[in-house]
Amino acid sequence: MTIQASQNKGWRFESNERKYLDEVLSSGFGAGESGTFNERLERMFADRHNQQYAITANSGTSTLHMGLYAGDIKAGDEVLIPTIGPAMTGYSVWQAGATPVYVDANPHTFLMDVDDARKKITPKTKAIMPVHIYGLMCDMTAVMALAMEFNLHVVEDCAQCMFAHDEQGRLAGTIGHVGSWSFENSKHLSTGDGGIVATDDEEMATKMRQFGGVGFKNIKAGSGKVRIDRNLFQNPNWERHNIMAYNYRLPELCAAVGLAQLEKADWLCDLRVLMGEAYTKAIGNNEMLVPQQVPAGFKHSYYTFGALFNPNLGVAWEEFRLKYMEFGGDGIFAAWQSVNKEPAFKGVGWGEVPVAEKLQRNLMQFTTNQRDEAERNKQAEILSKTLDFFKKH
Ligand SMILES: Cc1ncc(COP(=O)(O)O)c(C=O)c1O
Repeated sequence: MTIQASQNKGWRFESNERKYLDEVLSSGFGAGESGTFNERLERMFADRHNQQYAITANSGTSTLHMGLYAGDIKAGDEVLIPTIGPAMTGYSVWQAGATPVYVDANPHTFLMDVDDARKKITPKTKAIMPVHIYGLMCDMTAVMALAMEFNLHVVEDCAQCMFAHDEQGRLAGTIGHVGSWSFENSKHLSTGDGGIVATDDEEMATKMRQFGGVGFKNIKAGSGKVRIDRNLFQNPNWERHNIMAYNYRLPELCAAVGLAQLEKADWLCDLRVLMGEAYTKAIGNNEMLVPQQVPAGFKHSYYTFGALFNPNLGVAWEEFRLKYMEFGGDGIFAAWQSVNKEPAFKGVGWGEVPVAEKLQRNLMQFTTNQRDEAERNKQAEILSKTLDFFKKH
């Protein structure tokens, strides 16, 4: 009975996950011939993104903090962030001791409005954090032009974005100084909780690995190994730490699951894209719901399917959601509060975001983690049925 239930709920973890977990335990957390699972996951992730370095961490919030540290972001600095999206972006800026500056959203793509970012630049602005919300990349050409002009550090938050690309075919997370991903359970790839950063810059990679690796001075860009020379390491005079730091390391058990997930990443990501496309088709040109606009040439990775609900047609947001669920839909999530509106951020940061606040009230997020065509068809048909229902009433 238990096995049946877990097989059902754990369908994303039925390849090498258990085998690798077993290898970790059997090895007593030692490294196998191909290195530790953290090393293998990092290497494969860096290769897939054509980046020199990848560094695992215990969450996608930790990786954002590491990414800001790579750019020396500190107290007194300002960091431009969007407000459509989880508060973790804001938290990471606060963790760095810096001030979040809230940037408004594009009403069609729901992503950071780079023109508004430009208006909010001050002498204190040191970094910008484009967040590829719902799995669609921001306009990185505009972000990088702004960053070049004002010498800003760029951390791409790809927590929701895996293997998406822009009109030039550039992969998410490979354009800014640092790309940051989350392996939290709802994400394209999951280790339960976890994250990873990627960069081409050796100095930044070293800084991030040390910062998340409790400041061991032996840590290098490409390796977290701290016991380089036994005779030095076991000597009472040996000094280990050269910076104040955090323990953001990803446990080996999680890395084992992560490697198995990355091995089948294309399949996991394609499932989400297929669901996103099915919802888009189900909506067609319906004026009640307008999908997130995908610019020409961009590939969306559909962490979730985001659409803007039109509240001016006599149907309330809540009423639409209830009907969708009554027809068997598996839920519609509202967008998170605009970050600046979360009680925790009261008095923290500055910047008006009227477009984002209006969008937030009307956005709908549909699930894209269906396991097969039957499940996808079911959700898409329920969405069509819900739209038809309100058209007729
Ligand atoms: C856009 C975005 N940034 C950051 C995070 C933080 O990731 P984590 O939950 O792994 O800390 C998340 C996910 O939760 C996210 O969706």
